[in-house]
Amino acid sequence: MRIFLDTANTSEIRQAARLGVISGITTNPSLIAKEKREDMKSVIEEIASIIDGPISAEVLSLEPKAMIQEAREVSSWSANVVVKIPMSEGGLEAISVLSREGIKTNLTLCFSLNQALLGTIAGATYVSPFVGRLDDISHDGMQLVSDIVKVFDHYKMPTQVLAASIRHPLHVVIAAKAGADIATIPYNVLKQMIKHPLTDIGITRFTEDWQSIQKL
Ligand code: G3P
Repeated sequence: MRIFLDTANTSEIRQAARLGVISGITTNPSLIAKEKREDMKSVIEEIASIIDGPISAEVLSLEPKAMIQEAREVSSWSANVVVKIPMSEGGLEAISVLSREGIKTNLTLCFSLNQALLGTIAGATYVSPFVGRLDDISHDGMQLVSDIVKVFDHYKMPTQVLAASIRHPLHVVIAAKAGADIATIPYNVLKQMIKHPLTDIGITRFTEDWQSIQKL
């Protein structure tokens, strides 16, 4: 499973990129607004100067024709841009046109197996089940990831399953066990994944034991 960072914060992206564990970035309008950046293009171009892998940038139009036009524009910002299209009738129409043009798409706001199925049939490059938001309403978000992986594998669909709305390290563990192609995670979850109390205790003990012998 690959790990993407789910953020529009370029300091976080620079720091995470140094660790060599991040293969791509996902953003959305809320994440860009959180950074108080009004110009989505400049944010995406800056991210593209840091990260070689796929960078998801979302369209804001809702009508299919406008979505397609906006997606063509967004995809021209950088060779590695993937256009995020929200699930809807217009979104499916846009994905189907864009996939025939070779523009990569990420079906976002996916909350059911039926939505994921329609996304892959329309030609989406990625589908993004929103795990945390399903958990928020007492549905099992990770069960959806697992179901999508099973069905896509069975029918050999090329669309990649991108587990999104990840809230904590256990989500990442379950996504990996479920066979998700990618988990896109907030920076704080990446930091939590690195830490283990036994690692900290072990480092302290090794350091102290080594220092004790130096004093002899
Ligand atoms: O990748 C989608 C993600 O940004 C949504 O996360 O925590 O707002 O549900 P959240």
